[in-house]
Amino acid sequence: MKHLLSITDLTQSEILSILYKAETFRKEKEQNIHHKQILQGKNIAMFFEKPSLRTKVSFESAVSSFGGNAILIDGREVAGTRESISDISHVLTGMVDGIFARVHEHSILEEMQKNMNIPVLNALCNDFHPFQAFAEIQTILIEFPENFTEKKVVFIGDGCNVSTSLAQICAIIGIDFEMCSPDTYKIPDIFWKQILEESEKSGAHITRSNTPQKAAENADVIVTDTWVSMGMENEKEQRLQDFKGFTVTQEIMKKANKDAIFLHCLPAYRGLEVDADVIDGPQSRVFQEAHCRLHTSKAILDFIYNS
Ligand code: CP
Ligand code: NVA
Repeated sequence: MKHLLSITDLTQSEILSILYKAETFRKEKEQNIHHKQILQGKNIAMFFEKPSLRTKVSFESAVSSFGGNAILIDGREVAGTRESISDISHVLTGMVDGIFARVHEHSILEEMQKNMNIPVLNALCNDFHPFQAFAEIQTILIEFPENFTEKKVVFIGDGCNVSTSLAQICAIIGIDFEMCSPDTYKIPDIFWKQILEESEKSGAHITRSNTPQKAAENADVIVTDTWVSMGMENEKEQRLQDFKGFTVTQEIMKKANKDAIFLHCLPAYRGLEVDADVIDGPQSRVFQEAHCRLHTSKAILDFIYNS
């Protein structure tokens, strides 16, 4: 049985085969080809402790396109004071064939994994967002099909769940990656150390810096995310101060390579982490990236249930 709690659960060849499968599913969708019903008769629980648009819709749509059924559970309604994660896990493991969970603490996913005999998939936690990382890389693959692993990805912003998973996937498959953040918002050292270890195996050049104008030089892909992730709203004022100077502007995009693209997992806050003329401009691929959430969710489900 396979789980997906973090990108580091996967090998380089597994990641690449999921990406190429996502391309197959994208092309099949364009041609209105129906997918093999690999989830016929299967139910998958979607347990959400935080809000979502893309993750919920892309996953449920992927499950139903394979003939399966997704059951949405509001984590805020059932967990915490009402019932423990351990009891919820023991109940659900006898009722469904998998769980896709968006939670605050990564340890909740580990507890689910310990207490369940079904695949546990991370729909985002405070530390990681593996499904998003796949959609980012698929967007880069679509843009640069000949040599996507030779491109340089620069993330300007918070060392959060999204940047950590992106750094992990780049390190494993050999894409150069630079993390540019204020010194107090780096990717946590514990993850950074593993990222560097992975990069030694793949040959990816992985660096950290704190000057966006400089980091953008020679970039093929510039990525950012909100400065205030879900659950951090009480730090908002402080963060808006601390991230001043880290907005992805046209000026920063001009430092990057001519054919560079801009990515953002969304939701985005125009005028904060990115200017409107960048996210709504010709270099932006944010909606393509959002659509890739569907294709990559299908490819991950195919990997978990059909390989
Ligand atoms: N990018 C992303 O995960 O979006 P949602 O929070 O809307 O699912
Ligand atoms: N870092 C953001 C990602 C949202 C998809 C958050 O955790 O809120």
